[in-house]
Amino acid sequence: NAMFTWQRTAYHFQPQRNWMNGCAGPLYHKGWYHIFYQYNPDSAVWGNITWGHAVSRDLIHWLLLPLALVPDRWYDVNGVWTGSATRHPDGNIYMLYTGSTGNLTQVQNLAHPADPSDPLLLNWVKNPANPVLLPPPGIGPKDFRDPTTAWLGPDGLWRVAIGSRMEKLGITLVYKTRDFLSYELLDHYLHSVPGTGMWECVDFFPVAVNGTKGLDTSAAGEGIKHVLKASLDDTKLDHFAVGTYDPVEDLWTPDDPKNDVGIGLKYDYGRYYASKTFYDQEKQRRILWGWINETDTEFDDLKKGWASLQTIPRTVVLDGRTGADLLQWPVEEIESLRLRSYCFEDVLVGPGSVVPLHIGSATQLDIMAEFEVELISGKKTDEENSCDGGAAERSSLGPFGILALADASLSELTSVFFRPVQTSADAVTTYFCTDQTRFSKFTFDPL
Ligand code: FRU
Repeated sequence: NAMFTWQRTAYHFQPQRNWMNGCAGPLYHKGWYHIFYQYNPDSAVWGNITWGHAVSRDLIHWLLLPLALVPDRWYDVNGVWTGSATRHPDGNIYMLYTGSTGNLTQVQNLAHPADPSDPLLLNWVKNPANPVLLPPPGIGPKDFRDPTTAWLGPDGLWRVAIGSRMEKLGITLVYKTRDFLSYELLDHYLHSVPGTGMWECVDFFPVAVNGTKGLDTSAAGEGIKHVLKASLDDTKLDHFAVGTYDPVEDLWTPDDPKNDVGIGLKYDYGRYYASKTFYDQEKQRRILWGWINETDTEFDDLKKGWASLQTIPRTVVLDGRTGADLLQWPVEEIESLRLRSYCFEDVLVGPGSVVPLHIGSATQLDIMAEFEVELISGKKTDEENSCDGGAAERSSLGPFGILALADASLSELTSVFFRPVQTSADAVTTYFCTDQTRFSKFTFDPL
């Protein structure tokens, strides 16, 4: 049926079929990168969540392995949800994950590799002490999920953070543990932000103020900032902030309160959610995985037989120029996919014009583009935001960008573009947008 010749990516990670959502417990172990992912083995829509598992030597080429964890106990029978790996100095891996119980209560469980010397970590054992954590008093049974990688404090105890909410107050709870079996809840939050609602998939990690090396999750002290990220259920975006962590008080404070979690920066302004980082001890870098929750309708997903991707992983470092933002770049291994390259320089793009770039045929393209804007208007414009007008609506300084997947008549195209908007005589706000309305496989997304 020609209507449903859907194109799969050969680029971002995806299982062969069925539904996938966020990434869980990524780690590097004995020469292999491991990714686990929220996976429905039976259907292309969310449900019956298990942990899919794949390994790679280079974060680019993946080998799918059997399911790592399936919902087969009372404490996870409604789904083996997101979790994180902690590599213990004793050589063990502590995999903490959320289980949704028979009555839909969210509890935290512990799993271990059956054989930590197996590079592929094929078999996982659920700890007989499960569940190791129940929702504490005052926390809703459905608001207690996605434990972070643990970090070691100055008192020799591990800390695990878990996102939640108190009404509309988004919060991060912190537990201390010695053995990952018994836990003590701290009497204060690591951090909270009013009005942000449920914090899913909290991530908390150190970044170096100087240099480009990643840091182990337990690193703290001089020359180190901490990033706190929450995936906001309300916005379906991954919000983060750069701040300072006090490992004695177990408090994190944003460096700029105006740029707090949920009201400031986001990892990505497209479809990108439930992300998670891990420390790659082999190459000493911090790597970010994000889930691309695509825009197709459930109806189309079922027809396709699959839904969603994990982005090519990105290396994350603090932006040394300001110390206030992160820089993300696809992992260097991506260069192994670049078989041919074309370079176009000094391309002049006049207002309203389209400049074709001839590259012959290709099935996958990796485009790096740099634009230099010539100011043609110094006037304040009254344009408000944004991407809403699509690529056809002109602003005083744009939009400009790339028309991908375009045919010669430009009736078929997907645009990725910048829209700079002059908000005052000397200030410009730039929106980074995509317009899929002329993409023939586009289906309206009610989100
Ligand atoms: C994020 C999320 C997590 C949860 C998992 C369930 O999208 O909702 O909070 O653990 O997905 O699949």
